[in-house]
Amino acid sequence: MRFLLCWIFALAVTCYIVIPLEKSQPMKMIDINSIKLAELSLNLIDLNTSSYFENVMNMQYSGKIRLGTPPVEFKVIFDTGSSWLWVPSTNCRTACHPCSNYLNTSNSSSYKSLGEKITLSYGMGFAQGDLSQERVIIGDRNPLNVSNQAFISVNQNKDFEGMQADGILGLAFRKLSKGYNTLLDNIKLQGLITNKIFSVYFGDNFFGDSKITSPNSAIIFGGYDLASYAQNSDIIWMSVFPETGYWTVLLTNIKVDYTLIDYVSFLAIVDTGTSLIMAPKNEANDIMMRIHQKGQCYLAFGFLVCDCGISHKITDYPDISFELGSGHAFVLKPEEYFMKEGLYCQLLLTSLQKGNFWILGDVFLRKYYSIYDAENSKVGFALAAKSTVVVTADFGFGSSILPMFFLTLLFIGSSILYYKWQEFDVDEGATRYQRIHV
Ligand SMILES: *[C@@H]1O[C@H](CO)[C@@H](O)[C@H](O)[C@H]1NC(C)=O
Ligand SMILES: *[C@@H]1O[C@H](CO)[C@@H](O)[C@H](O)[C@H]1NC(C)=O
Ligand SMILES: *[C@@H]1O[C@H](CO)[C@@H](O)[C@H](O)[C@H]1NC(C)=O
Ligand SMILES: *[C@@H]1O[C@H](CO)[C@@H](O)[C@H](O)[C@H]1NC(C)=O
Repeated sequence: MRFLLCWIFALAVTCYIVIPLEKSQPMKMIDINSIKLAELSLNLIDLNTSSYFENVMNMQYSGKIRLGTPPVEFKVIFDTGSSWLWVPSTNCRTACHPCSNYLNTSNSSSYKSLGEKITLSYGMGFAQGDLSQERVIIGDRNPLNVSNQAFISVNQNKDFEGMQADGILGLAFRKLSKGYNTLLDNIKLQGLITNKIFSVYFGDNFFGDSKITSPNSAIIFGGYDLASYAQNSDIIWMSVFPETGYWTVLLTNIKVDYTLIDYVSFLAIVDTGTSLIMAPKNEANDIMMRIHQKGQCYLAFGFLVCDCGISHKITDYPDISFELGSGHAFVLKPEEYFMKEGLYCQLLLTSLQKGNFWILGDVFLRKYYSIYDAENSKVGFALAAKSTVVVTADFGFGSSILPMFFLTLLFIGSSILYYKWQEFDVDEGATRYQRIHV
């Protein structure tokens, strides 16, 4: 069987012939239009650094960095929801989740201890270790060589078993790293990039082998590349509020199929380190009720699981629209906010235990290529390029209701402790929003 996959890529239509091979071999992809593709992306990103991600079931995206002299390679989650960099030390062999590598601090000539113990709390656990400084090499393409980067050499952590990476690389603001320069701060301060901008593309290839998809999931430091990662050149920019420490944007309305839901929380954190969309309790319940009204759903361990094949189809369910910044609508279709497994669809939106903010995690960021501009305190979203070969999440497990993605769910970028925001005022366009309490 052969089939042709086409999509509109900037101005050119690019097609791939997809030839499924023998069982258990990955699909082979022949690019019949590779010249155009190469031309389009060539000039743009050559001097900006990029790192490619491994995709773990659309729930985690990790990339590689190297630390120390001689350099040791670590797999990390690039997390816009926190600001510290941490990797496990050799002391963590027995006190951490399983890792591919450990840092032997006495073995690195560029290591320096800053003489302080630090505990980092995350939405899903904690990590504890020594505040230190080290050389960090980042990027698969045009690597950046960053010296004296503050980081935590972690000796112990808890509840990170599901994380299929060794550590975390925080990309939020200095406010969350006790005033220490973040990696992004240092990359700019050391003159390695001109603009403190990075951008993130999360592909939809589910099974991780990025070699069978195009484009690869990736982060670019220093800029963004719409030709490779977006469907067109429309970027919707909006202000962020670095005073919160996070990449926080204004959420002005939420609609489920054109009907507004009641909501009190109007801040949303753009968070690459959280798998799902997370909503305050009342809002999450409201959205779940409205989804249920269009079909038939059940709650399983706090997650909504809906009939997507017995007496309802996935397309029976409503669109969810998030109006951000000055009111542009970002719409998720059921195919995007559900993960389909056999006859069931699992909602990739859940409720926060506590807190009056939203988290726009990987589910949202797969649909929208995200650009983080720390120079001008803004975030931009562009409709993300579609992956050419999508290995879908439909395993055909027939009657399985157990959301199997539990195992790999991430919720790191979000220490609840950090969400004790003071009241603060937000201006967006002509409207003034006030008083945020937690
Ligand atoms: C220590 O560094 C040497 C090279 O200098 C390397 O061969 C060895 O594997 C390193 N050991 C650890 C535990 O990292
Ligand atoms: C760390 O490196 C030092 C110096 O190379 C070595 O003596 C020590 O055994 C190493 N520690 C571990 C836990 O590998
Ligand atoms: C990073 O820079 C240091 C100091 O200039 C140098 O010794 C080291 O070889 C560089 N590492 C890489 C991987 O380029
Ligand atoms: C880096 O990306 C930006 C777009 O974000 C682009 O304008 C710039 O030319 C790129 N820089 C280089 C050196 O390629």
